[in-house]
Amino acid sequence: MSVPCFATTAPGLEPFLERELRELGFEGLSRGPSGVAFEADRLGFMRACLSLRTAHRVLRTLGTADASSPEALYASVRRLVDWPAMAPPDKTLAVYATARDSVFRDARLAGLTVKDAVVDAVRDALGARPSVDTKDPDLLLRVGVKGRHAVVSLDGAGKDSLHARGYRRDAGEAPLRETLAAAMVLASRWDGASPLVDPVCGAGTLLVEGAMFSRGIAPGLLRERFGFERWVGHDPADLDELRMLLRRRVDVARGAIVGRDTDAVSLAIARENAERAGVADGMDLAEGDVRELVAPPGGPGVVLANPPYGHRLGGPEDAEATVEALGRTLRERFAGWTAVVVLPPELVPRLGLPVERSLATRNGPIEIALARIRVGAEGRAPTDDRRGKPRRDERAASAEHRPRGPRKAGWAGLATSSGRGGRGRD
Ligand SMILES: C[S@@+](CC[C@H](N)C(=O)[O-])C[C@H]1O[C@@H](n2cnc3c(N)ncnc32)[C@H](O)[C@@H]1O
Repeated sequence: MSVPCFATTAPGLEPFLERELRELGFEGLSRGPSGVAFEADRLGFMRACLSLRTAHRVLRTLGTADASSPEALYASVRRLVDWPAMAPPDKTLAVYATARDSVFRDARLAGLTVKDAVVDAVRDALGARPSVDTKDPDLLLRVGVKGRHAVVSLDGAGKDSLHARGYRRDAGEAPLRETLAAAMVLASRWDGASPLVDPVCGAGTLLVEGAMFSRGIAPGLLRERFGFERWVGHDPADLDELRMLLRRRVDVARGAIVGRDTDAVSLAIARENAERAGVADGMDLAEGDVRELVAPPGGPGVVLANPPYGHRLGGPEDAEATVEALGRTLRERFAGWTAVVVLPPELVPRLGLPVERSLATRNGPIEIALARIRVGAEGRAPTDDRRGKPRRDERAASAEHRPRGPRKAGWAGLATSSGRGGRGRD
């Protein structure tokens, strides 16, 4: 039986998540702010948790409650589902709430109200109640209050967001979220067979996500724990079987994967991360300055880069100089390649390359633009007069925004789960 579910992601990345869900065969898709609604049965829900590259969390929607007052929320949540069956006294639980435009000025009050409703319903039915454990609960309930309604969900990821794949013990100094790195791979339309280069690879997140994508490695295969494993009715044999199925679909490495960085310590971390992810074989990692980088053979391919912003590494001048050097290297030596770069919007023009598509998103707390660039086939920016000028305000409020000019294929047309379209990996 299919139930309503919701996968969350960073604002701006919804088109990639929607495309992933569609390619995985899920139905009932509807894009919302910071996530996509879909339908799944029990096994499909687990498959979503293990397979989605750009999802932070996958929620099972339990229902919508009346949130017009604390009393109404309490009464409505008590009736919402069979709480004694879902949250028996031997389980622990935590409730996290958000509230917007509502009587709940402090979202914590909404969370407390829902917690009270659940534990009272269980105690009245069974004579004992589940206890609260905010650090590592068996059941993580999420409550989103908007206006007079509250959507109550069970979080399938559990304590840690799905971006924590399990391969990155040491994130380096200025890490990129794995889910954002995966979105960059998808945005690049990489075919998985041509070379992929990260000239400023740091701890190697983009390289590892690229390698996992090209080999069809489901990101959740490396993860040890999911929240849904502690739900009533979960059968560990189902998860074992799903893992086996997903492992059987893993393919050999194809395109060359090249990472360069000036920092030897970061490169050592990148190597360890790639080893833990099982994708270090054949990965070409070496010290090198972006100024000296040359395109590897087998191109044109894809350049993915998360240059220093000047927030956490070096200062703003260093960041500007590195971004300008990256732009110069691309123009001079990467003719015909596609580049996807994440930068604070104000630094994008420093690349000196016209941006084909750009969307606004976040890397943790930092607002960034995810920009896709086709380096001019003659090795120069295709429209030199535009060089250095952003075509459009990178901070546009919409999650996805197009530069002016002829309409190009949308983000929604990008390859996703495996890069091998027709083979239907998932
Ligand atoms: C924001 S970090 C990249 C983080 C990486 N995406 C990750 O997930 O760990 C930027 C990296 O650029 C490197 N870097 C700075 N200037 C460089 C240059 N001129 N050439 C190559 N790498 C450079 C830094 O050492 C740092 O590791």
